Order: sequence, then structure tokens, then C-alpha cells
Amino acid sequence: MKKIALADNVYWVGAVDWNIRDFHGYSTYRGTTYNAFLIIDEKVTLIDTVKKPYKSELMHRIHTIIDPKKIDYLVVNHVEMDHSGSLPEVVEAINPEKIICSKMGHKALMQHFHRPDWPFHVVAPGEEISLGTKTLSFLETRMLHWPDSMFTYLKEDQILFTSDAFGEHLATSERFDDEVNQDVLMHEATKYYANILTLYSPLVKKLLAKVQEMQLPIKMLAPDHGVVWRSNPGKIIEAYNRWCNHQGNGRALVIYDTMWESTKKMAKAVAEGLHEQGVEYKLLDLAVNHRSDVMTDVLEASAIVLGSPTLNNGMLPRMADFLMYMRGLRPTNKVGASFGSYGWSGEAVKMMNEILKEMNIVVCHPGVKTQYVPEHAQLGECVELGRTVGK
Ligand code: FEO
Repeated sequence: MKKIALADNVYWVGAVDWNIRDFHGYSTYRGTTYNAFLIIDEKVTLIDTVKKPYKSELMHRIHTIIDPKKIDYLVVNHVEMDHSGSLPEVVEAINPEKIICSKMGHKALMQHFHRPDWPFHVVAPGEEISLGTKTLSFLETRMLHWPDSMFTYLKEDQILFTSDAFGEHLATSERFDDEVNQDVLMHEATKYYANILTLYSPLVKKLLAKVQEMQLPIKMLAPDHGVVWRSNPGKIIEAYNRWCNHQGNGRALVIYDTMWESTKKMAKAVAEGLHEQGVEYKLLDLAVNHRSDVMTDVLEASAIVLGSPTLNNGMLPRMADFLMYMRGLRPTNKVGASFGSYGWSGEAVKMMNEILKEMNIVVCHPGVKTQYVPEHAQLGECVELGRTVGK
């Protein structure tokens, strides 16, 4: 097995999951990786582990470099099961001198694995640990995206091991940013931020400012998913800067679901109004677009227009699902509006507008409701709604 080195005596020893297609409700069409890193020094150190079924793959990769029993320190940057599921078996196999984690990491590890006998070493933010010739230090990144999350910095090689941050769900035979298609890479990185980190944007902003203030030289960013940013870490840092500041791209999304095509007709009329205003738009039917793909477009969109007919005094279930999901991620700095057909009660538009307002999205039009099937006049109202959003 070919050894994959990030620097002298620093290796990638993770696992590639080519088959995963659903990551707790996030569609992962391109699979993912669970990255772990091995540092060979006087104190041999493993940074993070992998999801439980991939333990053998991790151990096999370590074996190609060193006897796993020689590992002294095990760093846990993040306790979520995709990185710690194999931990009990790995700890059993390597019997480390120290399990290094943050204060909240210790709490979460105890709550997951209930092993007070493990040799925990809780690090304070900024604490340094010498491995012999190399030095590790630790940066607490609480709530990015779990309370336990931290980054580990390898001083001599200027590598920042960033847990979930700066990652993407992308299974490839390549391990570095300069080896993969850039459009695919940035699409998956955008999707990752949109679906995992949008809610924590204020914390991302603070973290980026803190790293800048610390003037930490960074040659590489090594996340726990996807590729290692060795050639252009600035590219993903610049994107995170844009995303955490909710910069809009000027585009509008018309997100809808339909029963008997009336709301679909209305969606197309809304799009016409947007087009008249010179606004680039996308029509996203929730019957064919997964919530996590729609959310990827939402991240940078400047306007969100929602369409749902009324069913049982509410909106269609796919719209309710999407709004519950989007509301949790709290995208901001957007305008919005709603429309939809109805038979006899017509509550959906009001409900969608209320959710937009709850999310601090500026509702710039009262909304359009059409009883049963829209005719020319009602479609004209939808065009007008589109024009208003476009303006
Ligand atoms: Fe990749 Fe939050 O786990």
C-alpha cells in the first residue's frame, strides 16, 4: 500500500467511504472520507480515527508505516461517531499513553463511551505538547460544529488539522486539493458549509479573525473529510470568509412543490418576473431536488421565493420538511416571498411567509394565492411578485 505523506513523517491514514449516499439527511452522492493522520516522532501520534466499520482500513494503513502498538498519543479533535466510532477498538489495539482532547471533548467521550479508565489528557487552548522534534498545539473551536471540537496545529510543518471545518464529502483516489477537479471540489465544499456550518457562521467569523490575529503560519489545512488543502488553503479560507459573512450572489431561487401543476405554473410566472428584472434564477422543484442540494443553492442566493399549495390546512409535506431543515440552519441576508394554489382554505402562503419572517428573511411581497387553477390574471400577479423580488 502506497504511503501518503503530507510532510516528512506526517501521513494520511484515513479511510474512503465510496458508498455512503445519506449522511443524516444530507445527500452524499460522491461518498466521503474519514481522515486520520499519523505523526512519527519520539512520541508517535495519531490524530483522529474513523467511523466504526472502517477500523480495519485505518489499522492496515497505520501498519504500512509503523506497528500501531508504537502509537503513544491519540488526539481526538471531534467526538462525532464518524471520527470516533472506532475509538474503543483502536484504544484497545494501541493502548495509548495519552488520549488528548478538549475539556468538552473529555465530557463528550465519557458520554459516548463511558470509559473513566482511559488515559485522558485534557488540553487547554494554546497548550503545547512536544513530540520530540515536532510540537503540537491546540485551538479550541467550541460549537464548530460540536461543543467538543478543536483544531490541532503541527508547528514545524505548519499543518492545521481542522476536524470537520474546511472539509467536504468527496470520495476520490486522490488526497490533495491540487489533484482533483476544482469545480467538483468547490461544489462539495460549498455543500458542506451550507449543510453543516451555516448556523455557526458567527463563530466561523470569530475563528477566522482569531487565526489571523494569532498570525499562525498555515501551509496546509487537513480536515477530517475530503482532501488536504496543500496547494491553495487560501482558496477555502477566502470562501469561508464569504460564506460566514452571508454575501449574496444576486441570484433568486424559486423553491416549490406542486399537486396538480397549478403551483408549478405560478412558479414559472414568478420566474418570468425575475427574468424581466435581469435576475438570474433557478426553479427548484422539491420533488426532484434533495433538501441538501437546495440548501447548497440557498447559501449564496440573495432571494428565496417559496411555492406550495395548501393541503389539509397546511403546506405540502416536502415544503414543510425543507423549511424545517432550512430554519435550523438559519441562512440570513436575503429577501423572500411566497405563493401557492388552494382549494378552499389556503393557509400555506401565510405559513411560509411566517417562517421566512422568523428566519429574518425580508418578506418583500404579501404573497399570491390562487384558487384551484390560475388563469391569465393570477399568473400576472405572480409575474408581478417576481418583479418585486427582482427589484
Ligand atoms: Fe464529520 Fe461532525 O463529524
